[in-house]
This record gives sequence, structure tokens and C-alpha cells, in this order.
Amino acid sequence: MACARPHHLLFLFLLLFLLPFSIVARTNGTVDVGTSITANNKDTPWLSPSGVFAFGFKPLEEKSLFLLSIWYHEIPDQTIVWYGYDGVPVSIGSKLGLTVDRGLVLSDPQGNELWKSQPILDNVAYGFMNDTGNFVVVRSDSVNLWESFKNPTDTMLPTQIMESGGVINSRLSETNFSQGDITSNFAYDAYYSFNSGYQVIFDNTGFMYILTRNNQRFDLTTRSMLFPTTENFHRATLNFDGVFTQYYHPKTFDNGTKWTPIWSQPDNICVDIRGTEGSGACGFNSICKLNDYKRPDCKCPRGYSLLDGNNTYGSCKPNFAQGCLENDINSAEDINDFETLIDTDWPTSDYEQLVPATETQCKRSCINDCFCAVAILRGDSYWKKKLPLSNGRDDSVVNGQAFMKFKKSNLSLL
Ligand SMILES: *[C@@H]1O[C@H](CO)[C@@H](O)[C@H](O)[C@H]1NC(C)=O
Ligand SMILES: *[C@@H]1O[C@H](CO)[C@@H](O)[C@H](O)[C@H]1NC(C)=O
Ligand SMILES: *[C@@H]1O[C@H](CO)[C@@H](O)[C@H](O)[C@H]1NC(C)=O
Ligand SMILES: *[C@@H]1O[C@H](CO)[C@@H](O)[C@H](O)[C@H]1NC(C)=O
Ligand SMILES: *[C@@H]1O[C@H](CO)[C@@H](O)[C@H](O)[C@H]1NC(C)=O
Ligand SMILES: *[C@@H]1O[C@H](CO)[C@@H](O)[C@H](O)[C@H]1NC(C)=O
Repeated sequence: MACARPHHLLFLFLLLFLLPFSIVARTNGTVDVGTSITANNKDTPWLSPSGVFAFGFKPLEEKSLFLLSIWYHEIPDQTIVWYGYDGVPVSIGSKLGLTVDRGLVLSDPQGNELWKSQPILDNVAYGFMNDTGNFVVVRSDSVNLWESFKNPTDTMLPTQIMESGGVINSRLSETNFSQGDITSNFAYDAYYSFNSGYQVIFDNTGFMYILTRNNQRFDLTTRSMLFPTTENFHRATLNFDGVFTQYYHPKTFDNGTKWTPIWSQPDNICVDIRGTEGSGACGFNSICKLNDYKRPDCKCPRGYSLLDGNNTYGSCKPNFAQGCLENDINSAEDINDFETLIDTDWPTSDYEQLVPATETQCKRSCINDCFCAVAILRGDSYWKKKLPLSNGRDDSVVNGQAFMKFKKSNLSLL
């Protein structure tokens, strides 16, 4: 370790040397009333004093579209931590201004107002992009009239507190910041354990906990998960798939450094979500499998394909007509086949159970039952399931096999 020291000193040295110059190029975080920035790839965003956070228009992948947002400015990812105007992208030439009577105002290239920081009825003195990631609109007597921290989107940052009744919403997908119908339900599901809380607190040392009304504290981050905020950036994001995750990112990084998950809630969304209504973590007829980042991957079983080809988290439709026509019944064993899936189940779609049963009995019973979509065998018990299948998961906790029925050809459609 001794050899690490000279590098450390060199780093400090460089830092001391470079710092004064970079600060000159930056603002002090204050945004004067009357100032505005335009979505055009040229205007500098409003930076926090240290330059860690920026507020402005972030160009989206689709050229000439921008998202009004706050992001981690220094890291290669430039991770978005807040967005305005409900996540709707705006076109090139749109403008964000700080006004004395309406606070922050977003307008389109023609000058029509799209969004503003509400409610602001008082005289605004200035805005401030804090190094915490909180943008505040301040009155002359230093009262904060509006704060991005009090209007969270999908992310919480250290020093941010979510009051009882506060909501954070997931975006629709990794790149679509609109709030989704399906995913927001899900967000609700994933959020169940926070509902009983009074406040969700993300403290300045990087710990998150829930405070109840009678001052009981439930730790979300435990002591063994120490990644000090002096050396790491932090964020907690409700991902579009419904997983709420706290991440850290070292402040000194190289090209490959990424956000690393500290904990997730629920721990395993594929098996922890099990509503009687809704499709579960993935769409109907889909199968959820937790990946290495503790996030769900969804896939359609054989004989099924995505209803919306662009939404891999969506529902799967059978590529064949499931039915009880004469042909389906008389030649069931000729036209149908099974795919065997280990440790796969859709626990909420049962309509019949047989005990005891063998694999052969199980398959024969399902193939000759035109209502049967899949047969599950666990030990000597067998369940028949009907469409649409929900809460599908591929996980070792299932400890059983699924025999997924599919039609060998599409002939019976005729
Ligand atoms: C920031 O700089 C502006 C001038 O650019 C000045 O008016 C303001 O007082 C400064 N604010 C702080 C907190 O230093
Ligand atoms: C910036 O955030 C820190 C920590 O929450 C707070 O102490 C400080 O007052 C904030 N600055 C402004 C100008 O709001
Ligand atoms: C995001 O999804 C919404 C809802 O499906 C859709 O109306 C909107 O066009 C999408 N936005 C983008 C930028 O794709
Ligand atoms: C960083 O990685 C990208 C690809 O991920 C590569 O194009 C770029 O050259 C790398 N930069 C440095 C400084 O290594
Ligand atoms: C995906 O979306 C694009 C643009 O909205 C559309 O052109 C394309 O057909 C879609 N692909 C599928 C497989 O649905
Ligand atoms: C059955 O139909 C699906 C989609 O309609 C197609 O992808 C598949 O190739 C067809 N299979 C056969 C055996 O014709």
C-alpha cells in the first residue's frame, strides 16, 4: 500500500492546481431573475458551485429533442436525477427562464408556456443549483418558494426527505420519461413497504431509512453497506420496472465506472410481486427472471411472442389460436406439443389440481384439455393453468417444472 502514497499526493497536488482554474470557468450556483437558457446544444446548463450537478436541457438520443432535467454532470453517464414537464421531451429552441412572478417557466420555440414551477405567488429573488442536486427558487427573505427536492420524479438524493404522501414515479422505460399506466401501478406495488412510513430519509452520509409516526426507524441501508458520501455519489431510483434501488458511484472513476446497486426493494421483484390482479413484474404470459443487477428480464415462452415488439417488458400473445373447436379436441395429441421449463411457474393462474400425478399423467391431461395452457408439476402434485398467465417467474424458489403447451403448426387456425 505504501506505493499508493505518491500517487495520492500527486493527485492532491494536481487537484489543488487545477481547482482554481476550473472554478473560474464555473458559476457560483446562483441563477439571476431574468436569466434563461435555450435547448440548442450550445447553451451551458446552470451548474452547481462544484459543477457536480447541472440543470438545463439534456439532449435525447432522438436528435433535436431535449429533456428539461437535472443530472450528474461530471460523470460519463450524466445520470438524470430529476425532470420537469412530466418527462415530455421538448423541441430545439425551447426555453427555460427564471421570472420574478412565475418562478421557472418552460416555453416552446413560439413562446407558449409549457410548464412552470408551481405554486409561486411571491416575488422571486434568485434561483440556486445546490451541490446537493436540489434546485431552489428563493424569495428575497431567503424562503425557498420551490425546490426540485420537494417535487421528486423517479430519484432521491442524499439530504432529500420524502414526506408522508410523497410519491415518486417510475418512468415508462429507460428512455421514455413519461409516467406509464402499467408501470406506475407496479411502482405502487414495489412501494408497499414505504406506505406505512411517515418520512423516507436519505441522509447526507448516504443512509436511507423510513421514519414512522412514532419515531421508529427502519433502515433501508444497513451499516454494512457503507459507501461514504465523501468518496461516492449516491442516488436511489425507482426504476421503470418497479425496482427501487440505491446506487453508489465512486467520485474518482475511470472510463468503465458504473453505478453499483447497494440494495433493492423488493429484493427479488420476480417472486416478491404476487398480486391477484395485474400481470406481475412482466406482462401477461411472460416469464420474469432476475438478472445480475437485481433487475427483471422478461421473456415469452415458446409459441408466444411480444404483443408490442418494442416493449420487452410487456405481455406475450400466443402465436396460435387457443380454442376448443372440433379439431382441437379430436387431434389434440397430434397438433400440440410441450416445452419443458425448469423452475418456472405462474402461481396465480390455477384452475384445476390433481394429486397424486406423474409427469405422463400431467402432460396427457393437459394436452387433451383445450382450456389448459400450461401444466405445472411439483413433487407429485399437478396444476392446470389457464390464459392469461400472470406473475410468471423463472427462479430456483419455484422448485418445479412447467410443461408449456404450444401448437406444432398454425394449420388449426384455418
Ligand atoms: C454569485 O455571483 C453573482 C454574480 O455573478 C453575485 O451577484 C452573487 O451574490 C453570488 N452569490 C453568492 C452566494 O456568492
Ligand atoms: C444547499 O444545501 C445545503 C445542504 O442541504 C444547505 O445547507 C444550504 O443552505 C443550501 N444552499 C442554498 C443556497 O439553499
Ligand atoms: C412515451 O410514451 C408515451 C405513452 O406511451 C407516448 O405517448 C410518447 O409518445 C412516448 N414518448 C417518446 C419520446 O417516445
Ligand atoms: C472510453 O470508452 C469509450 C467506449 O466505451 C471509448 O470510445 C473511449 O475511447 C474511452 N476513453 C478513454 C479515455 O479511455
Ligand atoms: C417499434 O416502434 C417503431 C417506432 O415507433 C415502429 O416503427 C416499429 O414498427 C415498432 N416495432 C415493432 C416490432 O413494433
Ligand atoms: C406460425 O405463425 C407464427 C406467427 O404468425 C410464425 O412466426 C410461425 O412461423 C408460424 N409457424 C408455422 C409452423 O407456420
